Amino acid sequence: MKERARGNFSLAMKSVFFSRFFILLPWVLIVIIMIDMDSKRAVRAPAAGRTGRAQRAARNGDPGVGGAQNQSALPVIYAITPTYTRPVQKAELTRLAHAFRQVPRFHWIVVEDSTTRTELVARFLARCGVPYTHLHVFTPRRFKRTGMPRATEQRNVALAWLRQHRGTRDAGVVFFADDDNTYSLELFEEMRSTRGVSVWPVGFVGGRAYERPLVSGGKVVGWYTGWRPDRPFATDMAGFAVNLQVILANPRAQFKRRGSQPGMQESDFLKQITKVTELEPKANNCTRVLVWHTRTEKPHLANEPKHRKDTVVIEV
Ligand SMILES: *[C@@H]1O[C@H](CO)[C@@H](O)[C@H](O)[C@H]1NC(C)=O
Ligand SMILES: *[C@@H]1O[C@H](CO)[C@@H](O)[C@H](O)[C@H]1NC(C)=O
Repeated sequence: MKERARGNFSLAMKSVFFSRFFILLPWVLIVIIMIDMDSKRAVRAPAAGRTGRAQRAARNGDPGVGGAQNQSALPVIYAITPTYTRPVQKAELTRLAHAFRQVPRFHWIVVEDSTTRTELVARFLARCGVPYTHLHVFTPRRFKRTGMPRATEQRNVALAWLRQHRGTRDAGVVFFADDDNTYSLELFEEMRSTRGVSVWPVGFVGGRAYERPLVSGGKVVGWYTGWRPDRPFATDMAGFAVNLQVILANPRAQFKRRGSQPGMQESDFLKQITKVTELEPKANNCTRVLVWHTRTEKPHLANEPKHRKDTVVIEV
């Protein structure tokens, strides 16, 4: 009898415990979710604020937020992006804009291979949230063959624009940001301190997982590359940046067509403005990959009609 009573009692306790537990459970979960959401918001808010301030400072030349964060004291990064009309163009530019929009003191020079500024790129840039200059130059047909270097005219037009519109008082760093790469935000803070010409590794290039300058004692002493290591500067277009004053001090330096094979453009250009011994290694003495040659796959459009079949015009 006693045993049974104790049994009943503990059974009753258990059911009271369980009913309380199940009544409380949803409330506990709600509180946990709210605390979690709050802490996420707290982490996000300051970052968004910094970006916003940085961009305003970059556009208006405001003094920024003062002290160590004086943004207007930072050299401006001029990223030169040659681009041309193709199915993935807007997608590529969109990916770039997502990165560039977060970089303080940034100026995007977009140069179209076209006889005019296209509507698509003009509309895109107007809304992209990055300070920009929109240029265009058409590559003559005789240069548009496989085996010919690409985007030569576009890069040179951008250099000419910088020489015309920037002077010895402007602090800046020039970088060739092709539209088929992926850029880490860290890359821009690495290159911002470039005094002459800086270099770093690039992922997925030269038939290897990465290429990089070989560094010893803080100096570039050679190149780890899968393709023509005999090039004086065996680097990719995405593997170096140049101080704006070096561009201005060498007004004749440009990308060459004559005597320049594909893949030799970088080396032929750098030869005109620097020496290997003067290169500044970035990205932890060239041991970190912060930019990748991702190259978007060409979309399969076999079922795309020759003439518009849709009832409306859709920009892709
Ligand atoms: C920020 O730097 C600029 C340029 O060096 C200078 O003119 C300005 O006074 C600085 N502002 C502050 C708040 O330090
Ligand atoms: C790069 O190497 C030099 C020389 O070994 C060293 O003094 C310097 O601290 C290194 N830099 C970085 C960022 O590791």
